[in-house]
Amino acid sequence: MTAFSRITIIASAVVGVLSVVILLLARTDLPSLSIASLSLALSLPSAKRATTQVQNIVSEPQESNVRTSVLEPSIQVVTTTVTTVPSASTLPSTNMTAQTTSKLLPRLIRLAFTARETAEGAGARVRRAIGVPQLRNFTPFLMLDHFFVSPGAGFPDHPHRGQETITYLLGGGMEHEDFAGNRGLLRPGDLQFMTAGRGIVHAEMPAPDLKDGEKSVGLQLWVDLPEKLKGCEPRYRDLRREEVPVVQADGGKVTVKVISGVSEGVESVKDLAYTPVWLLDLEVKPGGKIAQRVPEGWNAFVYVLEGDVVLGDPEGDKKKVGQYNMVVFEKEGDAVYVSVEEGAEKNARLVIVAGTPLDQKIVQYGPFVVTNQEAVYQAFMDYQTHSNGFERAKDWESEIGKRMRH
Ligand code: CO
Repeated sequence: MTAFSRITIIASAVVGVLSVVILLLARTDLPSLSIASLSLALSLPSAKRATTQVQNIVSEPQESNVRTSVLEPSIQVVTTTVTTVPSASTLPSTNMTAQTTSKLLPRLIRLAFTARETAEGAGARVRRAIGVPQLRNFTPFLMLDHFFVSPGAGFPDHPHRGQETITYLLGGGMEHEDFAGNRGLLRPGDLQFMTAGRGIVHAEMPAPDLKDGEKSVGLQLWVDLPEKLKGCEPRYRDLRREEVPVVQADGGKVTVKVISGVSEGVESVKDLAYTPVWLLDLEVKPGGKIAQRVPEGWNAFVYVLEGDVVLGDPEGDKKKVGQYNMVVFEKEGDAVYVSVEEGAEKNARLVIVAGTPLDQKIVQYGPFVVTNQEAVYQAFMDYQTHSNGFERAKDWESEIGKRMRH
C-alpha cells in the first residue's frame, strides 16, 4: 500500500465519520453538544482514547459510593454502588401514611444551587438543574430542565434511547408527535411519561394557539431505565390534570398534587413509569409546613418553582432557598421538611422528587443513555441506518416540526 492510498483511505474514513456527524446534527437537537465536541468524540483516535478511559475507570476499585468522570465534553461515566435495588415495576407499599410526622427523621441538604438559564433545542430556553457541572448525574435522574418555549421555538425532530422522560406542563401548551404516529397535546397540569426504550424519534413543540408573548412552560425530567429494560419497546402514559389527586395539609396551608407517590395518605395513579419515581407538586402558603415522607434509600430533591422555602431540619440544619433553586438531600432520613416563613410575601411552589437508585453505569451522549461506550456508537449507528428500533425514522418528518422549518 502506498502512502498516498493510505492517506486516501484515512481521508475517506474521516469524511464518512464527519458526514454521519453532519447528518446527525442536521436532524437532532442533541442537548449540550457542540459540533466540536461531537466531532471530537466520533473521530477515531479520540473514540479509542475515550474507550480506554472508560475501561480504566470501570476497573478501578470503588472507594466512594458515586464516582463521576467526564471523559469528553458530553460523555460521562458514573458508577454507582447501591446495596439494595427495589423492584423496578412497582411503587413501594405505603403503610407509612398513618404515622405522625413528628417522629420522622429529616433529610438534610447535601447540595443547593440556582439552576442557570441556557439555550436548548431550537430557540428554547431552559433552566437546567440536573445534568450540569454541579450535579452531573444523580441516579436514576439524568436531567431536569425547567423549559420556557415561545412560539416559533421548540424541540423539533430528535431521537431518544435508553431513558424515560417525564414532561409536566405548567403553562401554555405543548404538542408532541413521534415517528410511530402518536400525537398529543399537554395543557397546564398534564403530564406525559415517555419510555424511549430502544428508540424513539419525536418532536416537542409549543401549541399553535399560544398568544403573543405567551410561553409554554414546564419541567422535563429524564430518568434512567434499568439496564434490562433499555431495549424495551417505547411506550407512553399520558396523565391528565384530572387524574392527579390533590390533598391539603396543615389546615389548608399546604396543597399537594400527588402526581406519583403518596402524600397525606393519598396515593397517585400507579405504574406510570418503569423506574419508580415519586413526583409531588406542592403549594405552600406563608406559615405553612409539611413533612413529606420519601421512600427509604431513594435519592430525593426539591426544585423551587416560585417563592422562598425553608428546607432541611426544622430544629437544626436548615436553609432558606428561592426560586429556581435545586436542592439535593442526603440519603439518610425519612422525610423532606418544607416550610414557608410566616412573614413571606407570597406562596411558594415546589416539586419534591424521589427515585430508586439504579446499580449500573451511565454512559450518556446527548439523547442516548446506555451503559457502555460501545452502546453509544451502536446507538449512533442504529439511528443513522434506521435499524434496531429506529426503522421508522426512515423518511419520517413530524408535522408539528414543520412549523419551524417553514
Ligand atoms: Co425529546
